[in-house]
Amino acid sequence: MDRNLALDFVRATEAAAISSAFWVGKGNEKQADHAAVEAMRKAFSAIDMDGQIVIGEGERDEAPMLYIGEKVGSGKGMKLDIAIDPLEGTTITARGDPNAMSVFAAAPHGGLLNAPDTYMDKIAVGPKCVGVIDLDASVEDNLHAVAKKLDKDLEEVTAIILDRDRHRELVEKVRKCGCRIRLIRDGDIAGALAPAIDESGIDILFGSGGAPEGVIAAVALKCLGGEIQGRLKYRNEEEKSRAKKMGITYLDKKFHMNDLVKSDESMFAATGVTDGTILRGVRFLSHGAVTHSIVMRAKTKTVRFIEAHHKFEHMPKY
Ligand code: FBP
Repeated sequence: MDRNLALDFVRATEAAAISSAFWVGKGNEKQADHAAVEAMRKAFSAIDMDGQIVIGEGERDEAPMLYIGEKVGSGKGMKLDIAIDPLEGTTITARGDPNAMSVFAAAPHGGLLNAPDTYMDKIAVGPKCVGVIDLDASVEDNLHAVAKKLDKDLEEVTAIILDRDRHRELVEKVRKCGCRIRLIRDGDIAGALAPAIDESGIDILFGSGGAPEGVIAAVALKCLGGEIQGRLKYRNEEEKSRAKKMGITYLDKKFHMNDLVKSDESMFAATGVTDGTILRGVRFLSHGAVTHSIVMRAKTKTVRFIEAHHKFEHMPKY
């Protein structure tokens, strides 16, 4: 994939982050999301790529923009599969809580799992613990394996888990092992990335969250050299038939990194909307805004942080 596309992708996440940041703390999830989607879609139109959304805002009949199957980009250039979450953390944004971001991932056509909008059971770690975790092993075994690999006592290991009733038993098990937990209200893409970022203080992500978020996190972890494993969790028969329609033949398959993201040519970009573990949120100035983004390529494992100063008067209207 043309490495220069990275900057174009960041422009798209920056535009989405700025637009949704106008809605931080205003209690309006829908508007915040809509603003992000609209801005990202406009930004895509200026990018030379033959893109197709494989993970987006939903099925065509339920999402007017950036729906699964929508063609994006100028149509010139490389054929790409695009996975996006223009606003990861709609509730976070509406409440003004930390860790909302605008997220983008891409791979050459056929390179990403076309995940249905179901839940996914996930386990994720950073580069030092690749190969020691197993989604099918017990929580206790995974924690012991991570502690051993990181040369830590169990009491020093920190897990990150979405704060949900469905995770009550999981939380109990982690606590019984003596480990620390960071419970997060939302945003398990940032949660899955955290173990791969040294300063985060997080060693492992456990629990179920959105399956699309699992695929996007896999791209980021491929770039960072970490690992995620996942298995789809269905709430009803309709979700199972949606998965089949999307090409998933073995419904209970354990997905490894290379099933979630097949290509080393993949890229990931994200811009903070509110302050988070990895990124600072959008800061508004009198006539502009400052954004903080991360952009990474799986092939070279280069991680770039970009601070951009935008002047509203001169920002592209696309
Ligand atoms: P949204 O951006 O769609 O609000 O998703 C936030 C999120 O927390 C994801 O990070 C996570 O994967 C999913 O929701 C968890 O779903 P649920 O809130 O149903 O537990």
